[in-house]
Amino acid sequence: MPNSDQINSYDCQSPSVIRNPDAAAMFAAAQAIVTGELVAFPTETVYGLGADASNSMAVARIFNAKGRPRFNPLIVHVADLDHARRYGHFTAAAEAIASKFWPGPMTIVTLRIAAPVGEGDVAVDPISDLVTAGLPTIALRVPQHPIAQALIRTSGRPLAAPSANRSGHVSATHADHVARDLDGRVSMILDGGPTRHGIESTIIDASGETLRLLRPGAISRDAIEAVLGCTIKWGDVAGSRPSAPGQLESHYATRAAIRMDAAVIRPDEAVLAFGHVDPVAGQPFYNLSPSGNLIEAAANLFAALRFLDQPSCNTIAVMTIPNHGLGEAINDRLRRASAPRTQ
Ligand code: TXA
Ligand code: MG
Repeated sequence: MPNSDQINSYDCQSPSVIRNPDAAAMFAAAQAIVTGELVAFPTETVYGLGADASNSMAVARIFNAKGRPRFNPLIVHVADLDHARRYGHFTAAAEAIASKFWPGPMTIVTLRIAAPVGEGDVAVDPISDLVTAGLPTIALRVPQHPIAQALIRTSGRPLAAPSANRSGHVSATHADHVARDLDGRVSMILDGGPTRHGIESTIIDASGETLRLLRPGAISRDAIEAVLGCTIKWGDVAGSRPSAPGQLESHYATRAAIRMDAAVIRPDEAVLAFGHVDPVAGQPFYNLSPSGNLIEAAANLFAALRFLDQPSCNTIAVMTIPNHGLGEAINDRLRRASAPRTQ
């Protein structure tokens, strides 16, 4: 058994295996996804670092592997428009761009369906709150690349996948780049050769009444405007500086106030704990990870906030969470939830 420090700093397997995407490799990759591991795969834009988007622990591993200091929302890769409709509400304009540009290098942000409806007797697992970073919207993309398509279809899972590079490094467009950046942090790298576009997908926000361009990318603005017959305005990327003060914080906030680094718990507080601590009798209590594993803590963060944000408590006391590894992103998220309210 590894100790918790080893788990925190080095959750993954080593060294990473670069595989030709033959039938055996695709099967193994799909198995890895289903069991919550990370698989790097080519798309037509850049390589993605993929995990099952409905498995919070697997999604937390993405942030850990990339060394991201923040829980930015991730793009969910699905097989086709029908698959996408399970997780997002498609307006008429969203349908129009999806049917024209999917499959392809286009990401569409829609309002999120938090509890997807199952098909017949088969339940559909909801997308992890860690993927959407607590936002009411979700970014969806249907990739065109046959290996990406095969991984989604063989695993039967929606794939959360940011670009397969360490945070702050350039996006990987070759399997070798992925190996150099993420070696030992990803179970398998599917080698599809160099990617076609080499830049990320274009992101359009279709969650509101008007479409907004959030990120320019492989499909030009002109091409989109030609399809729609109208111009598209710029919008703000989630996680970037809010356009109006407090705008982003209000998405990220709990109703209860959050008190960080609480050494002593007051009787009227809910308690967010970490590590070997006993529950506080008679008070709402959630331990993010009794064993002190920061990846597990990240996976539990949003469920914990939802559970503790009860009408009976006006404050959530957060015990100290170490600020290394994923602790940095956890503390960032909690600090933003505790920011002064503007409404
Ligand atoms: O081409 C691509 O899009 C690649 C490949 C792997 O598909 N993926 C990629 O992911 O570039 P990533 O994580 O590096 O970029 C995701 C972007 C971020 O800028 C994030 O803020 C935005 O998508 N995003 C995700 N969810 C969002 C949401 N609900 N609302 C607004 N922006 C969102
Ligand atoms: Mg990126």
